[in-house]
Order: sequence, then structure tokens, then C-alpha cells
Amino acid sequence: MVDKVLLIGHGSREHAIAKALVKGSAELYSLMAHKNPGIAKLSKSITLSKLSDFERLKELTPKLDFAVVGPEAPLAKGISNFLADQGVPCVGPKTQGAQLESSKSFARQLLEKHRINANPLFRVFTSMDGIEEYLNEVQRFVVKPDGLTGGKGVKVFGEHLQTTNDALLYCQQILNEHKQVIIEECLEGEEFTLQTFVDGKRVIPMPLVQDHKRAYEGDTGPNTGGMGSYSCEDHSLPFVGEGIVEKAIQVMQQTVAALKRETGDTYKGFLYGQFMLTKQGPKIIEYNVRLGDPEAMNVLPLLQDNFVEICWDIINGTLKEVSFEEKATVCSYLVPEGYPSSPKHGEPIIIGDVKTELFYGSVHQENGRILTTSSRSIALLGVGNNLQEAHEQVVESLDRIQGKLFFRRDIGTQELVTRRIRHMRRILQA
Ligand code: AMP
Ligand code: GLY
Repeated sequence: MVDKVLLIGHGSREHAIAKALVKGSAELYSLMAHKNPGIAKLSKSITLSKLSDFERLKELTPKLDFAVVGPEAPLAKGISNFLADQGVPCVGPKTQGAQLESSKSFARQLLEKHRINANPLFRVFTSMDGIEEYLNEVQRFVVKPDGLTGGKGVKVFGEHLQTTNDALLYCQQILNEHKQVIIEECLEGEEFTLQTFVDGKRVIPMPLVQDHKRAYEGDTGPNTGGMGSYSCEDHSLPFVGEGIVEKAIQVMQQTVAALKRETGDTYKGFLYGQFMLTKQGPKIIEYNVRLGDPEAMNVLPLLQDNFVEICWDIINGTLKEVSFEEKATVCSYLVPEGYPSSPKHGEPIIIGDVKTELFYGSVHQENGRILTTSSRSIALLGVGNNLQEAHEQVVESLDRIQGKLFFRRDIGTQELVTRRIRHMRRILQA
């Protein structure tokens, strides 16, 4: 019997999920707000609608076996609860679990209450009372709104905020729009992404990935949704020492168990841990209740097990170890010129003879032409026996796509990786 699977979302991450589902022999039904040409081509049928319009799903639910949710916003809004009420199980947590991402204060307080040792110093404020004193106490701090902000609300002292007064003004601005503001200690180290499959109890890891948030080469320029990411053939990262991955997995297992004790909810889906590897070990920067974009594209193509069966194991609580090819990957995004502040949209993209895997992101299709929108356009993935091979492959393909676009040529290069290793060494020796 063919599994009929609903996929929610329209970005590159969802294109990667769509490929994995179809490779696993699923029949794909897609709900997208914008038509992603890659997903559309793989789907038996597509529904174009706002992802928050759950009522539209009622037409589809009678024929579905299960659903996979790509982005966080529908999860925070309760799409898994809605689908479960319609008899459709979901790979993606219900609202209780989705709070791990939608409320940074919830996540921090859960870790604190259950003594999971992965928080920086932090405090949550509902008014300006006491903020100035706390900023002076912490000295090097990060200010975050408590809500979904598409990764754009976080400001770091010394980078985006130059003085305590800047920070106070920003806290006030946040409190005008959100109920709470979080102030936390600024962690020093190297970031890594650990994506996992969770069946309520078990937390099964995927290879580690490192994302690159800055727009320009050499980690300069404004923050973006992520310009690209790499992973290594040993499924770890060159600056990650022995025992660190195991510690990070343990933190995530404890979090899933704590969530169950706290809310009664059984977390089923993907759980993404954004970690900072510090001198004191891995600390949580944030949880995401979905796969990463671009990180999903580094790992899903390496799956050696059937993704549809993994989804059933998540739903049924029967997850086992999952195998991935021992290959290195480099994923790079082509983005419109001017991205992220003033992207050139509506510009044609000409795709030449690309030899690597391609994932459509935010593009618009018109009269057979592919045009840019205001967000990341196309991601390409190089896969090789080592990072150098993966990097060579991806760059060759990137050069075969023409248009008013740019990308970071340095992601996955020896130079950048060496810089990360040296940085980590300095932190550990300090
Ligand atoms: P978030 O939206 O929480 O992932 O934050 C966006 C980015 O801000 C992260 O990828 C980090 O680079 C940085 N960041 C967030 N929290 C901290 C922290 N406590 N210490 C240092 N950097 C942080
Ligand atoms: N790559 C960052 C994210 O998916 O949130």
C-alpha cells in the first residue's frame, strides 16, 4: 500500500523533505502558500493556501495516512492538534511541544526547573523593572523577544547594541510588542546544529551541521536565515571534541522527558538543538521544533533508511537508530542581490547544467521562467568523500546558475574550518 502523506510548507527544507518522502515511495499531497516548483513536480496534488488556514485541510484529511510539517509557525498554531482531531497523525509536535521554539522563556525555564545543565545565565522580564541592574550584572548579554521572530529579533551587546542605553531602548521596544523580553549571558564558542528524530521517548541523532548566518564571506555582513552549511563524513565537526555529541544528545533527551513531565505531551517529530560549544561544554542557544533550513538539506540526502518508515516510527513510538552515508556535504544558498535588506525581486534565474542536488527556495514561476522573490532563492548541495570534494562540487554547480544573485564561496573551505578550530582552541585554553 502506498502511504499518502501531506507535506506542509514551501521552502527548500520542504523540498528536501519532499524528495525524501518520494524516495521512500510516498504519494505526496502538499499544502503551500507559494508554489514551489520542485515540490509541485513531486506532488500528486497541491493546495495553495495560507499555512494557517487549517480548515482547508479538511478536504484532504480523509485520504491521508500522516502529515509532515516543515515550518514552526503552523506547529505553534496547533496544526498537529488539528490534524490529530481529524484522525491524521503528524510528524511535528502539538502546541505544548512547539513552545520549545515559540516561547524562548518556556524553553529556558523548562531546562532550569528540570536542572538540565545547558542554559546560559538568563532572566525573563515582563516590564522594565530591574532590567538595567541585570544588564550591569551580566555585562556581556544578548536580548531576545519571547516569541517567533523568524530568527531576526536577537541582538547581541557589542555587535548590534553598542551601549546599555541602546539595550534599554531595545528592551522597551520589545515590551511594546511582546509580553516578555529575555536577557541572557552572551556565550562564547562555536555553534553547531544537532537535528534529531523524536518518537516521544527516543532521541535519534542526525549528523552534526554548522550553519552560516552572516550574509558575506568571512562571516561578515548582516544576519540572514542561513547562507549555507556543511557536515563532515564522520558525522561530527572538526572543532567538536570527544564526548560532546553524546552530551548534547543527553540534553535533548532530558528536555523531551522534562516536556512530558511538565505538560503531559508526548513530543513526536524533529527536534533541532542549536548549541554553542563553550569552555563549560555544549549550551543551548535555542530549540527549533522542526528541521533546519539549510541544515535539513545536508542530512536528508544522506539517509540510508527509508524516510517514510522513519516517519511511521516517530508516530508509533518505535524509532531505532538511523543510518547516514559517511559523506561530507556543503549546502550553499543563492540569494537575490541586496539580500537580506533590499533584495532584488522579480529577477530571472537561469539554471544551467547543474550536476548536484538542487532545492528550490523562495522563487516565483511565471510563463515558464523562474524569478527571484525577496528571500533565499535556490540551494545546491555538494556531496563528497571529504569537505574539499563536496565544496568543489557545489561551487561548480553554483557557477552554472545565472541571475542577479550571490552566494558565499567560502562555506566548507579549509580556510574557514581552520578558523573555527583555532577559535575553539582559544576558547578552551582561555
Ligand atoms: P536565536 O534566534 O536564539 O537562534 O539567536 C540567533 C543567533 O544569536 C544565534 O545563532 C547566535 O549566534 C546568537 N545568540 C543567541 N543567543 C546567544 C547567547 N546566549 N550567546 C551568544 N550568542 C547568542
Ligand atoms: N538554520 C537555522 C534555522 O533553521 O533556524
